[in-house]
Amino acid sequence: MTVILGFDVYGTLIDTAGIASALQRYAGERADEFAGIWRDKQLEYSFRRALMQNYRSFTVCTREALEYTCRVVGIDIPAEGKKDLMAAYTKLPPFADAVEALPPLQEAGYGLFAFSNGPAADLTVLLENAGLLGFFQDVVSTDEIKSFKPNPAVYAHFLRRSSATAKAAWLVSGNSFDVIGALSAGLNSAWVKRSAAAVFDPWEFTPTVEISALTELGAAIAEAG
Ligand code: 2OP
Repeated sequence: MTVILGFDVYGTLIDTAGIASALQRYAGERADEFAGIWRDKQLEYSFRRALMQNYRSFTVCTREALEYTCRVVGIDIPAEGKKDLMAAYTKLPPFADAVEALPPLQEAGYGLFAFSNGPAADLTVLLENAGLLGFFQDVVSTDEIKSFKPNPAVYAHFLRRSSATAKAAWLVSGNSFDVIGALSAGLNSAWVKRSAAAVFDPWEFTPTVEISALTELGAAIAEAG
């Protein structure tokens, strides 16, 4: 039975904090703070839209969160600048451990998929720019069913699209809410603890495995048996 690995994209393969360098020009020393608020609000908007069943794409959530962040931080970015920042979102850098980990995982015979809230067209450009696209059998987007993580329907959709059983499927994510969503839907899940300060949500769920870098994934899955 081929083990299927569904990699979350933003925050797992791709470093969303990397947008801070494009933000320097507009936010100066507040670029990191701006990037953090932008990311949190982008996710909040996706949660709310999924719950409200009032879908707009993740790109729209990102754009509306950018607008919100400008207002709350009190930085006025011209329309052209916002367009540039949205373009920069398709050129975010990969995490170094993602670049290192994917080739041996592919060689070891795992079925690798990208699985994200982003629309497939955005993901394809982003992963191509990061040099990661070629490692995936396919790119699965929650946009295909017009909802977002952690709606259980999107994890069921992932299983259908990857032809996997929940038992053979792993969601790999640096986002604790995504790991919990996959576990709650019956999948295995690996949490990538991306910083020493990262805290896993203290709910009734525990990740199937916890790793500090994607390069530990193969060994952790083997050990989990
Ligand atoms: C993703 O789906 C949740 O941002 C995360 O890529």
